[in-house]
Amino acid sequence: MANEIYTSRLILRPIAVTDAPELHAIRSQEEVYRHIWTGPWKSISETEEWIQEIRNGPRSIMYTILQKEETTIIGIVGVNRWDKVHYMIDPKFWNRGYATEALAAFLVAFFKLQPKRLCIQTLLSAENHASRKVLEKCGFVHDAPKPYPGPPTTSEPSEEEEMEAISGAGSNPAPSDSTLYFIYIKPT
Ligand SMILES: CC(C)(COP(=O)(O)OP(=O)(O)OC[C@H]1O[C@@H](n2cnc3c(N)ncnc32)[C@H](O)[C@@H]1OP(=O)(O)O)[C@@H](O)C(=O)NCCC(=O)NCCS
Repeated sequence: MANEIYTSRLILRPIAVTDAPELHAIRSQEEVYRHIWTGPWKSISETEEWIQEIRNGPRSIMYTILQKEETTIIGIVGVNRWDKVHYMIDPKFWNRGYATEALAAFLVAFFKLQPKRLCIQTLLSAENHASRKVLEKCGFVHDAPKPYPGPPTTSEPSEEEEMEAISGAGSNPAPSDSTLYFIYIKPT
């Protein structure tokens, strides 16, 4: 079971269904869902369902991000049901380094919670410059395009899958479409 994570300015708390109203208010903003494939969540109950699915996913680990002083919910960070890193921050708080601070702390916690994992991946739209910046600041590198197998059904990838993911890292040129793939390899 994941515990809270503390950084200098933030608290990362395992996501709860009761966070739905605040998270729905963030995710309903056009500048937030613009680069997210699944689009806006239409209602608070749809947001609650998304949170419940995340909580039940075999590999998903998602945290709600709060500002430490005000305990205001400002976003989420974690791994989604597709085993991909995902985050969002309320636009009111953009460009203060919060996503970078949250993702860096998440990565440390993730590899402690899942000691057999060797890497973690994500994909983003090529126009999502701020997100690319966050990934690069946290040590992600541009990766080869990957097949899209759908949500995983096992709690951990096999060692072969992990090694295969790592051996392809950064070896291909940018994909021609607008999707970019990034990988973070656990430091040895
Ligand atoms: C991506 C996102 C989480 C970044 O949150 P944030 O707290 O503002 O991120 P940070 O402040 O840690 O870092 C943002 C960096 O992007 C840079 N940036 C912001 N807008 C930019 C732009 N249009 N072009 C280039 N760089 C940009 C900032 O200057 C900063 O870099 P710096 O520290 O070198 O100055 C936020 O924009 C967001 O929630 N977007 C919508 C959801 C989303 O796209 N999630 C990712 C899905 S893969």
